[in-house]
Amino acid sequence: MIKHEQIEKSVGLLIVLTLLTVIWGGLLEIVPLFFQKSTTTPVDGVKPYPAVNLAGRDIYVREGCFLCHSQMIRPFRAETERYGHYSVAGEFVYDHPFQWGSKRTGPDLHRVGGRYSDEWQRAHLINPRDVVPESNMPAFAFLADVKAKDTVGADIEKKMEVMRGYANARGIPTYSDEEIKGAKAAIGDKTELDVLIAYLQGMGTALKNVK
Ligand code: HEC
Repeated sequence: MIKHEQIEKSVGLLIVLTLLTVIWGGLLEIVPLFFQKSTTTPVDGVKPYPAVNLAGRDIYVREGCFLCHSQMIRPFRAETERYGHYSVAGEFVYDHPFQWGSKRTGPDLHRVGGRYSDEWQRAHLINPRDVVPESNMPAFAFLADVKAKDTVGADIEKKMEVMRGYANARGIPTYSDEEIKGAKAAIGDKTELDVLIAYLQGMGTALKNVK
């Protein structure tokens, strides 16, 4: 029988047993989540991102918005009073990769959809200080000069097919062939700024009115 004292005094054994314990604990916590319906199926009202929003989401990732903004409202009073209903796993089933983030230089954005008008969002992104004088958020005016179809929209059909692959693997609703065929037309002549605003306005709206 190995005694606790022997384990503590033998560095090699301590490392091996610590690793085994952490791995076992991790598996016990993580693996069941793969099989829980609440984490793998969309909550009511959550749909695959429309082509325009999906393109906007790519701008969000490209510009590193996640470095200053989280998309994860925790179930604490201080957070739900400020941002709205806490985030639930079933809201993120169409997020590849997820944008939960871990840094809040700016506020959480998970329920920002519909909080402001499109005009406010436009003015704010072009120059944040025009609407929030003390803001230290960078200006993203250049997004208004580029057509989304030349950048994030160029291969939108392919991206939607990849998203469809993820959804099919989980057996959840996904894009129809028509939606994928119509993606380019939906993006049309919209600028990068337009598609980013579409993405922001759709954010977290499914659970918005739940208290
Ligand atoms: C350097 C950090 C930083 C980066 C990068 C950044 N932001 Fe912000 N953002 C802030 C700060 C700080 C605020 C709060 C002040 C304000 O409203 O401007 C804010 C506010 C916002 C708000 C208003 C939120 C609310 O509830 O009032 C939105 C929307 C937003 N940012 C979107 C974006 C988007 C989209 C991007 C990427 C294109 C981005 N931000 C990049 C720091 C940042």
